[in-house]
Amino acid sequence: MVKHPKPLVEIAGTGRYLPERVLTNEDLEKMVETSDQWIRDRTGIRERRIARDDEGAADMAERAARAAMAKAGVEPGEIDILILATATPDRWLPSTACDLQALLGAGNAMAFDLAAACSGWLYGLTMAEGYLVAGRGEIALVVGTEKMSSIVNWEDRATCILFGDGAGAAVLRRATGERGILSSHHKSDGTLGNLLYRPAGGAVIPMSPEVLEKRDHLMKMSGREVFKNAVRSMADAADQALQQAGLTGDDIDLLIPHQANMRIINATAKYTGIPMEKVYVNVDRYGNMSSAAIPVALDEAQEEGLVGPGSLILLVAFGAGFTWSGMTIRL
Ligand SMILES: CC(C)(COP(=O)(O)OP(=O)(O)OC[C@H]1O[C@@H](n2cnc3c(N)ncnc32)[C@H](O)[C@@H]1OP(=O)(O)O)[C@@H](O)C(=O)NCCC(=O)NCCS
Repeated sequence: MVKHPKPLVEIAGTGRYLPERVLTNEDLEKMVETSDQWIRDRTGIRERRIARDDEGAADMAERAARAAMAKAGVEPGEIDILILATATPDRWLPSTACDLQALLGAGNAMAFDLAAACSGWLYGLTMAEGYLVAGRGEIALVVGTEKMSSIVNWEDRATCILFGDGAGAAVLRRATGERGILSSHHKSDGTLGNLLYRPAGGAVIPMSPEVLEKRDHLMKMSGREVFKNAVRSMADAADQALQQAGLTGDDIDLLIPHQANMRIINATAKYTGIPMEKVYVNVDRYGNMSSAAIPVALDEAQEEGLVGPGSLILLVAFGAGFTWSGMTIRL
């Protein structure tokens, strides 16, 4: 039997938004007992962006989405599928995706939130790909948007130094040529959920004065365990995505790993055999923006001319859940 090639879905345009306010390591030295040197040595982060109080995940998403749509030449009314990946929704009901839909005026779309933490944007690309290949629509918008500053415990020096706010987006459509998503691999392990989590504030332990007092509605993390799992899982994700596409690290023009920590990025690059000149890094400027990290990096990399039409890129993510993803794309 003739094996039919996988139908391709391509990225028609990307966009990003970073809040103006910069929080440097020196600023953090005044907030918790830490030092610029410690933060740079352990994470590679120098500064991160912090959204305004009145700026939410949907507002940031709108800015990134409009930039992506402008590059793709797509109007809001043309979007059929709107997927918004976030760990920091503006409110529990309705979804932030529906808020974004209203802000954009994307009245013809189905819109929903996707919760897969830092891997969320890559999960979203694969979901959009599935809808488009199945003929359920022509145009998809996939956004990763995070106001991490709203769930960070600013008194916990082990976590507050790591995260930042921002949004990234891509418009997807069925490809007519050779460009598009070549392979993807996604996994989760819910048994490790409590290594990176928010203990309360949901339906089981709702918000209460006690929860607020104990700061149990904010993020808690077992840093070393998360670190070990991130390195292992990102290696697995890279392997699987490359194998599925019949590629090796040598074929890749640019590796865009999740931007959590410079040491995790170095380990992923080393494992895949991709030299650091071919690895995109912006964690120094933005910290960990969870689901927004990879789309922001992809948008910047294109703007900087590091990749363009035809380039082969490998995207690798890891996040709370745990969740992890690998994907290869011919841009
Ligand atoms: C958080 C992380 C940077 C900590 O680095 P580490 O080398 O594992 O450090 P440890 O947690 O073992 O802490 C070492 C010491 O530094 C201290 N420390 C923690 N944060 C500090 C800070 N901001 N400044 C100074 N000292 C700090 C700890 O209290 C500890 O002190 P002790 O030895 O006296 O107990 C690292 O574990 C990490 O990056 N983990 C992955 C986090 C991540 O990427 N999460 C998101 C995944 S999507």
